[in-house]
Amino acid sequence: MTDGPATASSPAEVPVWFYSFPVGRIGVAPDGALFFRYDDTWLATEGAFPLSCTMPKSTDVYGTDVISPWIANLLPEEDQLRILTRSLGLDQSDSLAVLQEIGGDTAGALSFGPLEPDRTPGHIRLTDFYGVDDPDAALALHIDDLSRRPFLAGEDGVRQSLAGGQKKTALAVLDAQGLPVYRMPGAGDQLAIPRNGAPSTVILKPDNPNLPGIVENEVFCLRLAAAIGIRAAETTVITAGSRSALCSLRYDRRMTRGRGIIRVHQEDFAQANGLPPGRKYERGTIPGLSLGGILDTARILPPTDALALIDQVIFNMLVANTDAHAKNYSILFPLIPSPRLAPLYDVSSVLPWPHVNQFHAQNIAGKKRRPGDIAARHWNAIALAQGYRPADIRRRVQELADAIVAQKIAVITEVSALAGVSAGYVTEAADMIEANALRIAGRLRKPAM
Ligand SMILES: Nc1ncnc2c1ncn2[C@@H]1O[C@H](COP(=O)(O)OP(=O)(O)OP(=O)(O)O)[C@@H](O)[C@H]1O
Ligand SMILES: [Mg+2]
Repeated sequence: MTDGPATASSPAEVPVWFYSFPVGRIGVAPDGALFFRYDDTWLATEGAFPLSCTMPKSTDVYGTDVISPWIANLLPEEDQLRILTRSLGLDQSDSLAVLQEIGGDTAGALSFGPLEPDRTPGHIRLTDFYGVDDPDAALALHIDDLSRRPFLAGEDGVRQSLAGGQKKTALAVLDAQGLPVYRMPGAGDQLAIPRNGAPSTVILKPDNPNLPGIVENEVFCLRLAAAIGIRAAETTVITAGSRSALCSLRYDRRMTRGRGIIRVHQEDFAQANGLPPGRKYERGTIPGLSLGGILDTARILPPTDALALIDQVIFNMLVANTDAHAKNYSILFPLIPSPRLAPLYDVSSVLPWPHVNQFHAQNIAGKKRRPGDIAARHWNAIALAQGYRPADIRRRVQELADAIVAQKIAVITEVSALAGVSAGYVTEAADMIEANALRIAGRLRKPAM
């Protein structure tokens, strides 16, 4: 460590921590430009991960063009950011100030802002926080609260941030003894708000009246992926009164030998490619990440993960997850040995919602297309651009489509049996996904229009 950590009154420098280990500092030049420098002890620590693959461990100072988009990607987006910054009295574009306020528990392993060593990391049960005995009632109150104050920003000791436009909350699971456990909440467990630096272990995304059945849809898609052999975030449905929420076990957490929970670093593909969140979609005034760019990101991953990434991309097209933008793919940085592809997450089929954009997030063979319109020559173009044999990619599309059809009923049964699930939404999404996958598979052999 160089000198002492910055304090809240010196926002010209924001320290970056992995627990209490100093990773580096984000500084602000007099003209407002940001820069990042690793701490010497972090550089000297064997196995210590880099902030990003755009910022390899080095004594170099990384400029604002590198660090600014990277930190903006840690923050919530759209309405979530607007409501949050208004409640904090900060400008939406001042990512560093926002991160200093809410960047205690983020996607991955890092915490931003001054350490408060006199405050012990801990948890408060939702029941205690809202002063009610019934865990369901407490969760319902929490879900309501998220509309008013995303991530409970401003609440004493609560500092958390996750990207994305959907309302969400990051919580911990406590067992009957009140100890944090790394698992989905089960009988006797309680959900709790992590405070003063304690890590969250589950992410909850409540239902959304604009996207009816989104919870069922996303759980079905991610469990379908797992059923056909694609590593996917573990998800379930949680209910609270008349509300339901997707509950996703954080894949950027691990249980240690001593049964503690440790954070694992991650970054999304926008961060890995040095793009700000506003360029997560390919199409825009300044283009964002193309399909080639998504697949090229595998250059830093082991070959098996490059193949797993192709599976993720194909799966997103087979289920018609048109929102598979650059922030919906991520890289994990385990302590050893090298970066890995994160499991699949944030997948839902757009097919039950005709009012939502039906075109895939990236151009396919040079054009805006719906997933169901992809034909043999488009897969060939995707394959050739990446140096793969077209026949191999087409075969993989067929295999995954066949596996979807084969697993559909089992996954419908499994998801429909979860408490709080409306089986009709599951079947609707499943039928539409199957039809889409069969259409895509059927077009593997026909000449493209
Ligand atoms: N199971 C998980 N484990 C760890 N991190 C996760 C998990 N699920 C999501 N994340 C992180 O949280 C971020 C936001 O989650 P998610 O993409 O599900 O939100 P969203 O609001 O639906 O996003 P979008 O704006 O793409 O619709 C992800 O980009 C990823 O960094
Ligand atoms: Mg997302």
